[in-house]
Amino acid sequence: MREEIEQLKRERDAIILAHNYQPPEIQDIADFVGDSLDLARKGAATPHRTIVFCGVRFMAESAKILAPEKTVLLPVLDAGCPLADMVDGEKLAQLRKRYPHATLLCYVNTTAETKARCDYCCTSANAAAVAAAIPNGRIIFIPDENLARWVMKNTDKEIIPYPGYCYVHKKIKREYLERLKKHYPDAEVLIHPEADPEVQELADFILSTSGMVKRVRDSQKKRFIIGTEEGLIYRLKKENPGKEFFPAGPGLICIDMKKIRLEDVHNALKELVYPIEPESEIMTRARVALNRMVEIGRRDG
Ligand code: 13P
Ligand code: SF4
Repeated sequence: MREEIEQLKRERDAIILAHNYQPPEIQDIADFVGDSLDLARKGAATPHRTIVFCGVRFMAESAKILAPEKTVLLPVLDAGCPLADMVDGEKLAQLRKRYPHATLLCYVNTTAETKARCDYCCTSANAAAVAAAIPNGRIIFIPDENLARWVMKNTDKEIIPYPGYCYVHKKIKREYLERLKKHYPDAEVLIHPEADPEVQELADFILSTSGMVKRVRDSQKKRFIIGTEEGLIYRLKKENPGKEFFPAGPGLICIDMKKIRLEDVHNALKELVYPIEPESEIMTRARVALNRMVEIGRRDG
C-alpha cells in the first residue's frame, strides 16, 4: 500500500500534508506534518499540483482558498470539526448587528462561508499576534470561547467572545491534571488554548500543537504532560525517544481526525477524490481573512 501511494504521488504530482492529530500510519506516509498554520503555509508554498490533505474539512478548504490553482483532496468527505459548525451566517449577522463597530476575527476552525464574512482569521499559533495587529480596539472573536479568553489575557484589546468549544479539549479536567502533576512533579505541562481557563492556569506553557513540538525539542525536561488531542503524542515520542509523555486527560481523541486510513489516501490519489471546491465568490472573500492569517507571524515559535 505504501509503495503504491508513493507511485501514485509521483504520477499525480502530489504532496501529502497531515495534521499533528492524524493516526500514526498517516503521519508516517505524510511529506509534512504540522499544525493549522504550518499546513496553510505549506499548502500555499508547495510547487506540487495536487495536495492530499489529511486533516479535517476546514483545513483542506483553507489550503484550496490559498492555492486555488491546485487540486486539494480530502480523502474522507465527512471529516469535519464540530467547533467549526457551531457558528453560522445567521449568528454572525446577529453579532454584526449587535456590535456594528467591532472587527470580526475568526479562528481558522470555521467554514469557508464563515471566513468569507469575517475581517481577519488566525490560528492558535498566532491568535494574539493577529488581534494585536488589528487597528480596531474592539474585536469579536469566534467561535472558540477559551481561545478568545486567552487572547483577551494576552492583548490590550477588548475581545467579545462567542460560546463555541472543542469537545476534545473540554475533556481536560483540572482535578485530573492536578493529580497528574502531583504524580509527576518534574513534568512540564503544555496545554492547548482550546482547554478551559481553569486548566490553562495549571500550564507551564500554552501552545498550539506545533508550538508543543518545538517546546519539547528545546526543553531540558524529560517528562511532559500534554494537554491536547493524543495524536500529537505519537509525533512527540517519535521525535524525542529519550522523553516521556502523559496525556492531560483520558480519551482525548478527535473522532473526525481519526477517519482517514491508508486505503483512503490510496483511493484519493487513484480516483482524485474528494476535491474541495468552495464557491468562487466565497473563496475570493475568505482569502482576504486567510491571507492576513498566513502573513502574521507565530507567537509560539
Ligand atoms: P493547532 O492549530 O494547534 O494544530 O490546532 C488545531 C485544532 O484543531 C485544535 O483542536
Ligand atoms: Fe475540531 Fe476539536 Fe477536532 Fe480540533 S480537536 S478538529 S477543534 S473537534
